[in-house]
Amino acid sequence: MRKLTGKKWLVFMLLCGALFLIGCGAKEAVSEKEFVEEKEPTKEIVIGFSQLGAESDWRTSNTQSMKETFTSKKGYRLIVEDGQQQQSNQIMAIRKFIQQEVDYIVLAPVTETGWDTVLQEAKDAGIPVIIVDRQVDVSDDSLFTCWVGSDFALEGKKAAEWLHQFALAKDISEQEIHIANIQGTMGASAQIGRTAGLEEGAAKYGWDLLAEISGEYTQAKGKEVMEALLKEEPQINVVYCENDNMAMGAVEAIEASGKEIGSDISKGQIMVMSFDGVTKNIMRYILSNKISFDAGCNPHHGPRVETLIQLLEAGKKPDKFSYVEERIYSHDATVPSLEVDGNSYPVTVVTSKTLEEFQ
Ligand code: AHR
Repeated sequence: MRKLTGKKWLVFMLLCGALFLIGCGAKEAVSEKEFVEEKEPTKEIVIGFSQLGAESDWRTSNTQSMKETFTSKKGYRLIVEDGQQQQSNQIMAIRKFIQQEVDYIVLAPVTETGWDTVLQEAKDAGIPVIIVDRQVDVSDDSLFTCWVGSDFALEGKKAAEWLHQFALAKDISEQEIHIANIQGTMGASAQIGRTAGLEEGAAKYGWDLLAEISGEYTQAKGKEVMEALLKEEPQINVVYCENDNMAMGAVEAIEASGKEIGSDISKGQIMVMSFDGVTKNIMRYILSNKISFDAGCNPHHGPRVETLIQLLEAGKKPDKFSYVEERIYSHDATVPSLEVDGNSYPVTVVTSKTLEEFQ
């Protein structure tokens, strides 16, 4: 290599200095960019949703509402686990969410009891738990952050009061009312509240409550139970179904037996009462008097859960319990409104126009 001397050496050193400064500048620019990126991340909110199953149309709408709300476009990642009606599956799902370090756990519990241990684990992991739909019966309320859902006891009271008012208006004596109750999953808030409403009504008004059997909230089981009931208790003239899918199963069984469905019970018809009122299909059942009464149960909890999460994200404390508004549907205007616990509730008579509101 040739040696540099004099002026050439000076030029070489200046060039090296300039290159060094450019290098430093470039480095500075990159780290500034990195800084901006680090400072403005879009924080994804990860939600683990333990859905209890897919037993009914109500449940399908409920899951859909959660999926439509918590989209990646809005910055959420929703992980849905289907418990297939088994509490053990739901407990496993919650433990998985804890391992995955999700930001929130949303639990739609199959039954009320048996959650203390796993909810304590979520609490110890610092993950807020939002309960939706049915409630949990825990020894310590701080095991969950908040709950949103229906007042199932009120739904049951509305149904009982409607039956009482209906009988009065039609001049049917209370003793002439022979009821079979097709119950939901035993131990679920929806079953507990709806059964309580009917039992209170029967005790108060003197109805003949012939049988109470679980149809597990499914159409197939509702049909099976109704088939057996028709054989065992032929005097049944009112079937109180604790959800619409079981009511559809009961209708199938009654029709197949050759008995008539409708609200003219003094003329031998069997009147079907139900809960949910979520789909256009069910509105058709009410329109044709295959279901004469339906206490609405609102499944659209996605936006409500989102509001709760946004409050928590903002460091605020949401109400512990939030009850949703629900409607009442009937085939005709025999009972235009109901009084329950000092409150008045209008009854919507289903017409072909009502159908347009439903999918
Ligand atoms: O908990 C809500 C109840 O569960 C709905 O009435 C029923 O359809 C569902 O399965």
